[in-house]
Amino acid sequence: MEHGTDYIQNALAKKDDELDVSLRPKGFESFTGQNKTVERLKVMVGAARRRSDTLDHILLHGPPGLGKTTLAFILANEMHTQVRVTSGPVIEKASDLAGLLTNLQTGDILFIDEIHRISRAVEEFLYSAMEDFRIDIMIDQGPNARSVRLNIPKFTLIGATTRTGLLTSPLRSRFTLQTRLDYYSRADLISIVKRNCQLLGVEVDRFGADEIARRARGTPRIVNNLIRFVRDYAEERADGKITRDVAVSALELLEIDENGLDEMDKRMLGVMARNYKGGPVGMGTIAVAVNEEVDTLEEVHEPYLIQEGFLRRTPQGRVLTDKAWEVLGMERGADSSQGLLF
Ligand SMILES: Nc1ncnc2c1ncn2[C@@H]1O[C@H](COP(=O)(O)OP(=O)(O)OP(=O)(O)O)[C@@H](O)[C@H]1O
Ligand SMILES: [Mg+2]
Repeated sequence: MEHGTDYIQNALAKKDDELDVSLRPKGFESFTGQNKTVERLKVMVGAARRRSDTLDHILLHGPPGLGKTTLAFILANEMHTQVRVTSGPVIEKASDLAGLLTNLQTGDILFIDEIHRISRAVEEFLYSAMEDFRIDIMIDQGPNARSVRLNIPKFTLIGATTRTGLLTSPLRSRFTLQTRLDYYSRADLISIVKRNCQLLGVEVDRFGADEIARRARGTPRIVNNLIRFVRDYAEERADGKITRDVAVSALELLEIDENGLDEMDKRMLGVMARNYKGGPVGMGTIAVAVNEEVDTLEEVHEPYLIQEGFLRRTPQGRVLTDKAWEVLGMERGADSSQGLLF
């Protein structure tokens, strides 16, 4: 059985399963949180609709499971248009891209997930597609080789990425709007828990919802996975209702971290405490110590640790907060012989 941080890791790796899809908000009105992003999108949708024009290209970035795919579908609904979904690694050749683009209808949305993983060769073709709505591709080889210009319908590209740092600036600059999704506040997560439980026909009280929200690492997809298990637990071990006691026992059984920290979050804090006395220490150094890329740490892990008050950024480097030392069970600046947790 999976448990603890494995459970969270698996929840994040498992994309768009049935439950997620059935709980996916269909319009802005049922999409909780991300106020700035939603406001920006509403402005663009409103203006495009008023002009009966196609929506401009949009880049959504931010950690996994926060609603990028959901927003792409909402935009399609709001624009009364269709969305085609693909992902960076799937588009291998320029002809794959040409195939996708020439099958679009005017106003359609092409959603490219993990757009940072698109190959350089394909990326070049995307430029003219985005800007001039045409692409020039070479057909045949050797003496017969010739370039053919394909006109494509005016479409909207919605790119999603967890790693803006890996996007080239020419590509980034071709999006009219680049907007970042942040981790959800506790209050937003509680609303999401309540809404999703209601959709699933599960009774939950305020305290039960709070326990789930607290351990969801600011992430709706994790909320959905925790609800799934807690619901089963409530049915098997209680009267079906999710109260605080039920939620706590269920989540303890899963060994979910009380602060919603995942394995890598904990390793970062642990390394900083044990090897660098809590900092200041540079992200490059931390990255080497935990064997992960700087970009991933900065874009996926650090924002959550900062939001939850475990980490601070200073001009000299990252520093652990009192809260982090407390969670680690160590004294500030203690040497490596102390501490037990991570
Ligand atoms: N604002 C929200 N309100 C309610 N539920 C949400 C919200 N955002 C996301 N969800 C839920 O979380 C699930 C995961 O969201 P989504 O698939 O859009 O994330 P994502 O950002 O595309 O993740 P990834 O980077 O892993 O592809 C959705 O299916 C939906 O059920
Ligand atoms: Mg997605």
